Amino acid sequence: MKEVILVLGASGQIGTELVMNLRETYGNANVVASDIKDAHPDVMESGPFEEINVMDGNRIAEVVKKHGVTQVYHLVAMLSATAERMPEKGWALNMDSLFHVLNLAKDGAIKKVYWPSSIACFGPNTPKMNTPQETIMEPSTVYGISKQAGEQWCNYYFNKYNVDVRSIRYPGIISWKSEPGGGTTDYAVEIYYEALKQGKYTSFLDKGTMLPMMYMPDAIRATVGLMDAPADQVKVRTSYNLAGISFAPEHVAESIQKIMPDFKLDFAPDFRQAIADSWPSIIDDSRAREDWGWKHEFDLDRMTEDMLTNLKVKLGL
Ligand code: SER
Repeated sequence: MKEVILVLGASGQIGTELVMNLRETYGNANVVASDIKDAHPDVMESGPFEEINVMDGNRIAEVVKKHGVTQVYHLVAMLSATAERMPEKGWALNMDSLFHVLNLAKDGAIKKVYWPSSIACFGPNTPKMNTPQETIMEPSTVYGISKQAGEQWCNYYFNKYNVDVRSIRYPGIISWKSEPGGGTTDYAVEIYYEALKQGKYTSFLDKGTMLPMMYMPDAIRATVGLMDAPADQVKVRTSYNLAGISFAPEHVAESIQKIMPDFKLDFAPDFRQAIADSWPSIIDDSRAREDWGWKHEFDLDRMTEDMLTNLKVKLGL
C-alpha cells in the first residue's frame, strides 16, 4: 500500500533533516511537511508543506484527510530549558498535540505514529551510568514529566487500542543543517559555530557534565530504522533507550582542538546545569540493538570533523 507521511515539526532541528530523508525513500510528493512557521528552503521547495498549529486537532485531521496520510511523525515539542520558563504552556503543547495524533490513530485515520521521548524522561534518582531501559525515572523537569507521561500514554494506546506507535528516547542531537532551540544539550551545537566564528566558547554547562549525545545522521537512521522494523520486533511500546556517544563539554573542546589547536573553552554554568545534572551520563540501549538491530556509527572525532567541514561551508568561512 502507498504510504503518505505527515511530519509535524518540519521546521525543527530533527524535522528538517527527517523530511529530506523520508522524501528520498517515499518520494517528494508523499511526504507532507508541516509546522507553524515556514521550514528550511530545501523542505519548502522539494515537496508539499502545510501550516499546522498542533494545538488544533481539527487542522491536523483536515491535513491527514486532504493528503490521505497513513503515518505521522510527531516531532513538535517545547524542549527542556524553554519549558522550565513556561511550565503550563510546555505541558499543554507537549501533551495535547500527542493526544491529537494518538486519537487519529485510535480512530483509524492513520496507521502508524512516531513520537520521540528523551533522556529527559529520567531524573535525579535514575542510575546515571549505563541507565537501563527499565529503571527509576522520576523526571524533575516539565519537559521530562511530559515525555514520561507521553511514553505511558503511547504504551496505553498500543495495549488498549492497538495503535502502532513507536518511540525513541533521543539523547542530545548535534547537527549543522538546522539549529536546535531551547534545549539543555544545545551547547554541543553552539560550540562548533563559535569555534569557527570566534575561536572560543563559553559553555553554559560545567566541566565534567557528561550527557548522552548523538550525531544527526545516526538519529535519522535510528528513527527510520525503528519505523521500518516489523511490528512484532518492536517490543517496547513506551520508548526505546538509544545511545550514540557520551561526552562532557571539555571532551568536545579536545576533539575540536585536534583540528583547531587554538580553540579555547571556558565555563559559565547557568540554570540549565541543574537540568543536565538530573539526566543520565551513559545510556544502555541493548534493547534497541537486540529488538530492531540498532547500531550507531559516529564517534566524537568523526562527528567533529563532519560538523566543522559542513559548518565552514554554511557560514561561508
Ligand atoms: N535535547 C533535549 C533538551 O536538551 C533533550 O531531549 O531539552
